[in-house]
Amino acid sequence: MYEHDILIIGAGLAGLRAAVEGVRNGMNVGVISKVHPVRSHSNAAQGGINAPLTDRGDDWEDHAYDTIKGSDFLADQDAVEIMSREAGESVIELERMGVIFSRGDDGKLGTRRFGGQKIARTFFVGAITGSAILHVLFEQSIKYGLNVYEEWFVTKLLIEEGKCCGVIALDIKTGELYVIRAKSVIIAAGGAGRVFEPSTNAIICTGDGLALAWQAGAAVMDMEMIQYHPTTLAGTGILMSEAARGEGAYLLNSDGDRFMEKYAPEYMELASRDVVSRSEQTEINEGRGIDGNVLLDLRHLGRKYIESRLGYLQEVGVEFMGIDLAEQPIPIRPGMHYIMGGIKTDVNGATSVDGLYAAGECANVSVHGANRLGANSLLDTVVFGRRAADHATNYVKNIKHVNLDASYLENEKKRLQSIIDRKNGERPAIVRNEMANSMTLGIGVFRNQKTMEKAINDISGIRDRVKNISIDRKGAVFNTDLIFALELEFMTDVAWSIVHSAISRKESRGAHFRTDITTRDDKNWLKHILVSKDNESKNGVKVETLPVNITKWEPVERQY
Ligand code: FUM
Repeated sequence: MYEHDILIIGAGLAGLRAAVEGVRNGMNVGVISKVHPVRSHSNAAQGGINAPLTDRGDDWEDHAYDTIKGSDFLADQDAVEIMSREAGESVIELERMGVIFSRGDDGKLGTRRFGGQKIARTFFVGAITGSAILHVLFEQSIKYGLNVYEEWFVTKLLIEEGKCCGVIALDIKTGELYVIRAKSVIIAAGGAGRVFEPSTNAIICTGDGLALAWQAGAAVMDMEMIQYHPTTLAGTGILMSEAARGEGAYLLNSDGDRFMEKYAPEYMELASRDVVSRSEQTEINEGRGIDGNVLLDLRHLGRKYIESRLGYLQEVGVEFMGIDLAEQPIPIRPGMHYIMGGIKTDVNGATSVDGLYAAGECANVSVHGANRLGANSLLDTVVFGRRAADHATNYVKNIKHVNLDASYLENEKKRLQSIIDRKNGERPAIVRNEMANSMTLGIGVFRNQKTMEKAINDISGIRDRVKNISIDRKGAVFNTDLIFALELEFMTDVAWSIVHSAISRKESRGAHFRTDITTRDDKNWLKHILVSKDNESKNGVKVETLPVNITKWEPVERQY
């Protein structure tokens, strides 16, 4: 029997930061991850991590305001205040743990400017910041002798008397299914980018954590807020970091114009992501694109500068497009990158289910609102990963392990076996691609009633088809076919929550831009949309709203 005080699902930045905190608090911590920790998607985060350090003349209130303005005033301001106040010490702590942040000529930690922010406050390691932090947190986990279930896949959360008391998980290596008892569970399983195609997200970003929480009855919030990153590579959709524009790169249309002059005269290429992506898409839609793309131009930065500060981007340019960034502009377009929405939590990571916490991209503490600023996601993971573990530590002090009935495991074994035994169904990959294409068409950079209704209709059909998918691989050991099928079930739950959130919001705000209702409506829609599973309703979804927490920054029209 496996058991822990705190069990963490996910070994990316939020998961490992939570784990380190839990161990330091004297807890028996387990971390479960479907991939080896350093293959978690945090590894792909490129540009940096924000922190308003006072010795740079910066101030937490300025960072908080930029974040809230970036969110189109949908972020809860109490949560943003916490993140901004705790940012400085969180980044310095990472540096002391061993993250070798890039430094300026004066020897001090270097910063670059990121979108939607008045000043440069993004700390970075070249264009591999996520990877650098992840490796250091992984080292810390080794130092603390952390118990990691590597390549295990959680199939179900266990809820008894309204409390989360563990999980059922599959050891992918052997095909054995186990109950892991836990006094509390922190979901830090990352985003759900692959519910859309293309996406900058790793193929593993299938929203497992979101769906596990959804199935357990926890509410998810602001799921309509899908971030399209302005610079993803033509064709493959690989992320070309905002760091390029932070270092001075231009965006050009087919006439060679820096078109951002029209849309954001002050911030230009460094307006918030939703604004830049919409501007690019408008240029493309109005015939000033090049094969569905616009151009990212770094030539004026010079080869030496590009190779020293943005070496990773140069590698991607050469290897995937045969383009030397010092010689030629590179075609890019907006691409799905991040979900601002997530499992609704309070500022300590607690969800609506006792004993169940969430942190990182799968959670919605409400610091990103309708549009996240670049480099605030790494900050979110470390600040709220730590807070979730601290709160869980206090929670478990008065909790005993629950005795779990053997039928839980037996029923789950039967469910998985029935998927393996099913014959003559569709292959998961076919259905997954159709789902993801429908989501991109329906819930894109621009959307309207018609596109969203079509997406609901498509996803409804796909949810029926998923019940009948079948897989070719029948064996127990490393049955990745089975994992793919289970991930697809999770993805369709996430897609369902997104389409119902999106159609409910009758205004345009941040990343949710409707061509049929183009204005923000604070009178009626300065509120969050919560959706949860409801077996009683016809579509299986309950939709509710919640006021936004405004502390001191009254909403105004955004100008960049
Ligand atoms: O463009 C980037 O480097 C992405 C950063 C982020 O999403 O925070």
